Amino acid sequence: MCLHGNFFGKIGDPCTSESEKLSEQQEIEAGFSPKGYLESYYRPINVEKMTAAIRELRKDKRKVIDIRDIQKELNDLNEEEIENLFVLSFHEDVALELMRRHPEDGLRVLDIGGGPTIYQHIPLSLESGNITHSEYLASNREEIERWAQGSPEAHDWSSYFAFSSKSMKENPVFLDLLSDMQRSDDPKLNERARELETMLSTPEVYQEALKNRLSRVVHGDLFAPGLALPPEQHFDVVTQGSQRGIPELITATFAFEGATAIREKWEEGFRNTLSRIEPGGYLSVVSVRNAERYAVGEGETLPAASVNENDFQAILLDAEFEIIQEKIMVGLDKNKVGYDGMVFIFAKRKENSA
Ligand SMILES: C[S@@+](CC[C@H](N)C(=O)[O-])C[C@H]1O[C@@H](n2cnc3c(N)ncnc32)[C@H](O)[C@@H]1O
Repeated sequence: MCLHGNFFGKIGDPCTSESEKLSEQQEIEAGFSPKGYLESYYRPINVEKMTAAIRELRKDKRKVIDIRDIQKELNDLNEEEIENLFVLSFHEDVALELMRRHPEDGLRVLDIGGGPTIYQHIPLSLESGNITHSEYLASNREEIERWAQGSPEAHDWSSYFAFSSKSMKENPVFLDLLSDMQRSDDPKLNERARELETMLSTPEVYQEALKNRLSRVVHGDLFAPGLALPPEQHFDVVTQGSQRGIPELITATFAFEGATAIREKWEEGFRNTLSRIEPGGYLSVVSVRNAERYAVGEGETLPAASVNENDFQAILLDAEFEIIQEKIMVGLDKNKVGYDGMVFIFAKRKENSA
């Protein structure tokens, strides 16, 4: 065992040589199968069952929730469905909190480590003017392009749109925000309310609306200066946004811990990303907790950085972020899935931070 507590030869071991260290990214390139990953985690969902479940989950205001308690309450859902439910519910909460804070809309979003998935953009599309999907692997970006172009080979996300639409329309927080916009004296907000109603009118319209907002699918590397975003003007959405005086958002769902298995490198990637958020800008992050690995296809796994809420909290505090929402799911069987829970954090960089 080396000083870092890793076994020699393990991918991601900081004690291996420089040439071996490079192999971590090579292993992701060789091992990550977009279709296998989508098949493992994002099969079509049962809309009725999931909307009934999110109704129950909404009532649970605890910060730390043991998945085994939820399994007892929602015994018609399997573990994979409950994991999904937590993630979808968090994204809905973030979109609604942003809508409450910025009803005027137009937020610009940068997603990093976006992978081959678009579910993370669905509720946010109600609030954002445009979304940039950045991702390291070309194969994952191609999967997103196929969906955006309506290719028959694209992954089918229609049940996720149907779920989000139904869930939003039943969510009292959304209904209150909508009614405030409708009753506002500001014609722009009346128009916003009409736009939201149109977007949620059918899953097909909702899907088209996201396609219209998903303005760019680009290469990104969360360890590189400037996140390696293409240099053209306006690609650096977060910095550009602050110049307009509009707070912006970076989203990262299972990105940092999926990009490296080395704790120090995880911190480097996380801090590098935070440095792109201007004062007043937002971060929404979801991570598997205390992970060793995660599935990327039939029987295939990749190593992951083992981090938990304490790691996120310490760095966010140091980088002058305030946590707006935090949920921690515990109680998953690590021997089976490779991690023991999930961490969900929505934070804002303090307005007066350096
Ligand atoms: C576990 S997947 C998460 C995908 C998606 N965000 C989701 O919610 O399912 C991790 C993603 O990080 C990407 N990734 C790996 N190394 C990266 C890097 N250096 N910079 C940005 N993304 C990276 C992988 O290609 C993969 O798509």
